[in-house]
Amino acid sequence: MAQLINDINEILVSKEELDAINKRLGEQITKDYKDKNLLVVGILKGSIYFMTDLTRYIDLPLKLDFLAVSSYGGGTRSSGIVKIVKDIDIELEGYDVLLIEDILDSGRTLQYVTEMLKTRRANSIKVCTLLDKPERRVVDLKPDYIGCSVPDEFVVGYGLDYDQKYRNLPYIGSLKREIYE
Ligand code: IMP
Ligand code: MG
Repeated sequence: MAQLINDINEILVSKEELDAINKRLGEQITKDYKDKNLLVVGILKGSIYFMTDLTRYIDLPLKLDFLAVSSYGGGTRSSGIVKIVKDIDIELEGYDVLLIEDILDSGRTLQYVTEMLKTRRANSIKVCTLLDKPERRVVDLKPDYIGCSVPDEFVVGYGLDYDQKYRNLPYIGSLKREIYE
């Protein structure tokens, strides 16, 4: 990773910390959804590494599906305009839906998605985000499960991108300002 690490300012969440987060959340979700009908829905593409590692710590007969939205473009701030690019395949009626997000920033993306899904008669809809930037929230949305909070810096790795790159970095790091400024 000698090429990628050159662009990283600081490692904020290490591989070991990510594993501990996944274990803690996976065990909690296992307890909370024991008698439920769990459908885990990953929001593409940022959630893929988190979703694959987290679900291996959930000891329940769950199903997986995906939803793709676009809002960011190539910049580092949410546009506020959210578009569904790929919808969930499974009908939500009768399922307890757990949305998996990489990072909660302004909250606009998840607010839009949860409002849209509320019309589909799921048993329940909850939100699990790996990272949270609480200072940046502009809508009233509280995730049900949070991996950890990060400062208001642009972060990449473990699924999170800048201009579609850096997703494959095995930890979370802040991006050097000169890369995006
Ligand atoms: P929100 O709608 O402002 O909450 O933005 C959420 C989405 O913006 C996330 O799903 C990410 O794709 C993206 N995002 C927000 N902050 C960051 C960041 O620091 N690094 C990479 N992507 C981010
Ligand atoms: Mg993104």
